[in-house]
Amino acid sequence: SVEEMEARVREIKSKFGDRLFIPGHHYQKDEVIQFSDARGDSLKLAQICSQMPEADFIVFCGVHFMAETADMLTNADQKVILPDLRAGCSMADMADIDQTETGWGKMQEIWGDTILPLTYVNSTAAIKGFVGKHGGATVTSSNAKKMLEWAFTKKERILFLPDQHLGRNTAFDLGIPLDQMAIYAPLEGKFEYEGDLDDVKVILWKGHCSVHEKFNIKHIENLRKQEPEMKILVHPECTYDVVQASDLDGSTGFIISTIENAPPGSKWAIGTEMNLVNRLAQEHPDKEIVSLNPFMCPCLTMNRIDLPHLLWSLEKLEEGEVVNQITVPKEVAEYAVLALERMLERS
Ligand code: 13P
Ligand code: SF4
Repeated sequence: SVEEMEARVREIKSKFGDRLFIPGHHYQKDEVIQFSDARGDSLKLAQICSQMPEADFIVFCGVHFMAETADMLTNADQKVILPDLRAGCSMADMADIDQTETGWGKMQEIWGDTILPLTYVNSTAAIKGFVGKHGGATVTSSNAKKMLEWAFTKKERILFLPDQHLGRNTAFDLGIPLDQMAIYAPLEGKFEYEGDLDDVKVILWKGHCSVHEKFNIKHIENLRKQEPEMKILVHPECTYDVVQASDLDGSTGFIISTIENAPPGSKWAIGTEMNLVNRLAQEHPDKEIVSLNPFMCPCLTMNRIDLPHLLWSLEKLEEGEVVNQITVPKEVAEYAVLALERMLERS
């Protein structure tokens, strides 16, 4: 039963004590996040991993790229475990390293040595390595603006991987007009841009989050009509028009603190993953909280981490077996860590 599984998780956790550490992302299910030793948005989780307490085992409740980052930021002898290896991220998979090398070659032909690559942390270690090797850095949704500003002190143009929406929303926030942003479509190996290529300031990789693309402008228009006092709060992985039409946007950490600080009786429609929206609604019964998309939007890969998988990985540890260990090859990690450190230093 669920109660038995929960009791076993508690038992194994107390047996291991400080030797076991469980970080959890805000999108994790309640049945899992209740056991996390720390929860956070992507930036906070990366910061926690870089100053990880003396844990031998880090059982990461999140997705694959987060576990890779944890492996790279912790000591060599600390082992990172992902309770279900199918917990990937479709956005991270939209930029593979061969496509990136090919695209980069084409960009060099057009713009020469004027481009600095930045990657959203929602990317594979190989992409982080590529970016690190070329002098760039990672960004998260909570420091993207600051990192983009930094990047423009280094080079005239930025390649932003792999989320076109976070890239566009952030660049627009910095005052870059949409007509100075080109899109690079990796599957076709082509640029989508109509103006003069010399004017391009930002090259957006054509990737997206399939969860956040489910919030659209119609949802906002309907709400504005039906619930005019409701405030709309979205994640910057949403499309440009949704972010523009919303009242506020920011990382999962920002979404949580906004709701925590909102006055009782206030009404909110939130455009982000369903587990987080439901949890906020439960934790704040004095406020009205709904999903911006009434059909709710789960991240299927985040949800792969469930109580049975968490328990299974912990029971294996108890038996002395490390399952689903995530390790990033040294030659990739060497450069990827540079990209991560350039971000952590500035956050
Ligand atoms: P943040 O928690 O950094 O806002 O990231 C959201 C996300 O989509 C993680 O996969
Ligand atoms: Fe990836 Fe989107 Fe899921 Fe985050 S919510 S893990 S970006 S698919």
